[in-house]
Amino acid sequence: MQKIEITKQEYNENARPELTARVENMDAYSTVIIAFPNRWTTMPMAVFTFLGSCDFSGKKICPLITYGGSGFSSSLNDIRRLCPGAEITEGLAINGDSVGTCDKDIKKWLRQNGLL
Ligand SMILES: Cc1cc2nc3c(=O)[nH]c(=O)nc-3n(C[C@H](O)[C@H](O)[C@H](O)COP(=O)(O)O)c2cc1C
Repeated sequence: MQKIEITKQEYNENARPELTARVENMDAYSTVIIAFPNRWTTMPMAVFTFLGSCDFSGKKICPLITYGGSGFSSSLNDIRRLCPGAEITEGLAINGDSVGTCDKDIKKWLRQNGLL
């Protein structure tokens, strides 16, 4: 099956694909950047697996998306739902066509979040 078909099937089935790596020391992080491409109006389902597999309460989540036409779509609501108790900061949405020229925007966003 082609990768695009796989992602579509995962989305349709609300799947939680198994991850090949785990973050063992999540307790060490108070701020987490979640960076992902828009897939079918939200995050790739593997990101759902990740967010659902850790306790983010009390942590700050900084969402960063690349997209084709519809920005964050449903992803911010999905993050809020999957991470109760987390503080979701203002995210950064980058059009896929601009990823090669978005350094300034990313640095500004990191500074706003106290990460640079
Ligand atoms: C299978 C698939 C589904 C996508 N769905 C959306 C979508 O619903 N909304 C959107 O704005 N962009 C969508 N895109 C565009 C990507 O988010 C965009 O190309 C991305 O910023 C660049 O990531 P990529 O190089 O992995 O495609 C989709 C792309 C693919 C391949």
